Amino acid sequence: MNNLKGGIQVISYFNNYKRHLGLLLDQNRVIKFRHAIFQNVKTDDIVIDLGCGIGILGFFALESGASHVYAIEPTEIIELAKKISILNGYSNRITFIKKNGKGISKKDIPEKVDVIISEPISNFLLEGDLWSTIQYLKRFLKEDGKIIPYSGKLFIAPSENAPQTFLDSCNVLNYPNLFHINFDDFTKNVMYKSEVFDVNPKNWVSEPEIILDINLKNDELKDYFSKVIKFKIEKSGLIQGFHIYFKLNIAPKIEISSLDNSHYATWAPQFLPIKLPIQVNGGEILSLKISTKTFPDYHYQWDLELEHFSFYSDLSIDLNRLEGLEINFKPEIIIKNDSIYYLDQDFFVQYDIESEMEKKIIDLIQKENKIKNIIQEIKNTYKTDNLKTEIFLTFTNIIKKLNSLNMIEIKSYSPSFLRNNFSWTIRIP
Ligand SMILES: C[S@@+](CC[C@H](N)C(=O)[O-])C[C@H]1O[C@@H](n2cnc3c(N)ncnc32)[C@H](O)[C@@H]1O
Repeated sequence: MNNLKGGIQVISYFNNYKRHLGLLLDQNRVIKFRHAIFQNVKTDDIVIDLGCGIGILGFFALESGASHVYAIEPTEIIELAKKISILNGYSNRITFIKKNGKGISKKDIPEKVDVIISEPISNFLLEGDLWSTIQYLKRFLKEDGKIIPYSGKLFIAPSENAPQTFLDSCNVLNYPNLFHINFDDFTKNVMYKSEVFDVNPKNWVSEPEIILDINLKNDELKDYFSKVIKFKIEKSGLIQGFHIYFKLNIAPKIEISSLDNSHYATWAPQFLPIKLPIQVNGGEILSLKISTKTFPDYHYQWDLELEHFSFYSDLSIDLNRLEGLEINFKPEIIIKNDSIYYLDQDFFVQYDIESEMEKKIIDLIQKENKIKNIIQEIKNTYKTDNLKTEIFLTFTNIIKKLNSLNMIEIKSYSPSFLRNNFSWTIRIP
C-alpha cells in the first residue's frame, strides 16, 4: 500500500475545474511559482511540468524561454490545458502526456531535461504519490538539472488550543445518545484533522520541532515516512493536539508557507487532535512517533504513538519523583516584600508568600537548585516527623504552583518519571 508502484489510477480529486480555479486564484502561490520559474528556467531549456493541471507552470516556463515543455497530467483537466496552449500560441512547444508520471518512458520523453517543475504540496507537505513520482522522473533530469520546488520543511508543535470546529465536532459526536446511536467506532478509532486559522505560538508548550527536512534534488523522495519526535516541554498546559505547518522554498530565496495568511490560500496550518488531552509541565518530555501511509484513493493516514514522561501525576507531586531534578527561578523573577513577580509577555503574574514555612522554602530554592539537596537540608533542619511532613507538603505544593505560574525552570528528568503512552490514528483528508 505504501509505495504505490503503479501510481494512483484515477485522481478524481483533481479532475475538477473548481479545484483548479481555486489554485489559480491563490495569487501568493502562483506569483511565487512564476518568480521561481523565471529565475531558474533559461532560454532553450527543456522542461517537465509534472501534474500540469491547467498547464500554468509549463506556460510560465515557455514564457521564460524554454524551448520545449513535456506536460504530464493523468486527469481529464489536461484537455483544458491543451485548449489554453492553442489559445496562447504555445501548442508547438508543448507536448501533453495524459498519464500518471510513473508510467512515463523514453518513448514519451526521448531526451534529458534541464528542469522538473511540479506543485506537489499538501498541508502535510507530501501529497498523493507526487513525491515518489518526482523521484521516478529524476532519471530524465540532466546531472546539473534543477527541480522546482527546491526544498521543504514540515513543523509540529504541541498546542493548548484546539480549533472551534474540532471542539464542536467533539461536542456533537461525543454527545451520549446522539439519535440513540452509538458512534464510538467512528469517533474513537479514527480521528480527523482540522484547519487552524489563528495559529498563535503563545498556545504552544514547546518550541516547534522539524518532522521533515527535504531537498527535492538531493534526497530520495518518498510519499510516506516514520519518525520519532521529542518535545521538551517549556511551560505547563493542557495540550489538546498538535499544530502542523510547512515552509517551502520554491527556489532558494522564494519561500511559501502554510502560515501565510494570504487571500484564497490553498494551504492552512493543521490541527492534529490527541486522543485524550493531557496535562504537561515545564521540564517534561513528550515523545511522538509518526508513521504515515498513502492510499490509492488519495487519502492519507497518520498513525501516532505518544509517550509522556511526566514527573508527577495529575493530582499530587510525589517527592520521590522530584529527586534527580533541578529547579531554578527564571532569571526575570523578582522576589520582593513577600511576593514573587514575573512579567509574562505583557502582564505581571504575582505569587504571595503566605507563611514563614513558604518563605524558608523560597530561600532554599534560591540557594540550592538540586532538589535532592533541598530534601536533605529539610531532613537535617526539621527534627520532628510532623514538621518534616508539613514542610515537604508545603514544598511540593509550592513547586506545583510556581511551575504552573511559569516562574521556575525544571531541568533534566529522572528515570523515576511516570510514563504514559497511547496510540491513535488520524485520517486525512
Ligand atoms: C496541486 S495540482 C497542481 C496543478 C498545476 N501544476 C498548478 O500549479 O496549478 C497537482 C496536479 O498533479 C496531478 N497529479 C497528481 N498525482 C500525479 C501523478 N502521480 N502523476 C502526474 N500527475 C499527478 C493532479 O491531477 C493535479 O492536477
